[in-house]
Amino acid sequence: MAQHLLILGGTSEASALAARLAQENVPAIFSYAGRVARPRAQPLPTRHGGFGGVKGLAAFLRDNAISHVVDATHPFAAQMSWNAYHACAELGVPLAALTRPAWQPQAGDMWQQVPDIPAAVAALSGPAERIMLALGRMHLAAFQGQPQHHYVLRLVDAPDAPPPLPHHTVTVARGPFAVADDIALFREHGIDRIVCKNAGGSGAEAKLHAARALGLPVVMIDRPGLPPRDELATPGAVMDWLADHPATERGV
Ligand SMILES: NC(=O)c1ccc[n+]([C@@H]2O[C@H](COP(=O)([O-])OP(=O)(O)OC[C@H]3O[C@@H](n4cnc5c(N)ncnc54)[C@H](OP(=O)(O)O)[C@@H]3O)[C@@H](O)[C@H]2O)c1
Repeated sequence: MAQHLLILGGTSEASALAARLAQENVPAIFSYAGRVARPRAQPLPTRHGGFGGVKGLAAFLRDNAISHVVDATHPFAAQMSWNAYHACAELGVPLAALTRPAWQPQAGDMWQQVPDIPAAVAALSGPAERIMLALGRMHLAAFQGQPQHHYVLRLVDAPDAPPPLPHHTVTVARGPFAVADDIALFREHGIDRIVCKNAGGSGAEAKLHAARALGLPVVMIDRPGLPPRDELATPGAVMDWLADHPATERGV
């Protein structure tokens, strides 16, 4: 069968891979979850929205004669990654992940590492503080459990409905962010503590440098469990992986 990739996107790494594939005329479809109002345009045919679980994804792979899947979703998009793992396993379609290493604490960092969102909420028990909640909009409701704080939220889109937190400020911005800007933001809002996910990569790393510079503690949420797959760090490594995994008739 002909080479025809599916890229599961939503990260800057996915966009970098799309640029490389377009440049090298590798046929591919780019997939967005459809959560962001104005997603970055891609130089590849692009679809938006869920597939409908493992079953829906398997049907999509079959219907579009997909030869390879590259999961370039965010490391916290575990549901999509597991769905890709199961659908590819079912059809025998080669799967690789384009990932970035997790951040590691450095000298001067004051991290409290927690396993998940509920543990991050629990870590905020105590008197009222001004918290930078750098988590996107998905898990805000969980922080109703600590309503004493004032939460500063940085979101990609202005929210349709008011965030479900009694005291909050919304800033609308899309990364990558600069360290000087994050220092200014934390000072402007009098931030006492930062809560974020261990996303890794450079686009969202500025907040960690800013926290270090200002001596602010960080509640760092560890990555969820992800499926076993070939993990690649760069678009170049994906090109090499494709060369090592020629398209076959398998499973389609
Ligand atoms: N989680 C984060 O912190 C974070 C941060 C930055 C960017 N993102 C991006 O935002 C998207 C959603 O993240 P999430 O954490 O909500 O994912 P998730 O919990 O793993 O996925 C939930 C469902 O959303 C759909 N979906 C997710 N990614 C998709 C994609 N690239 N193309 C088509 N459908 C997709 C799938 O629906 P069906 O089951 O119907 O197929 C999936 O089962 C991802 O693409 C991710 O790369 C996430």
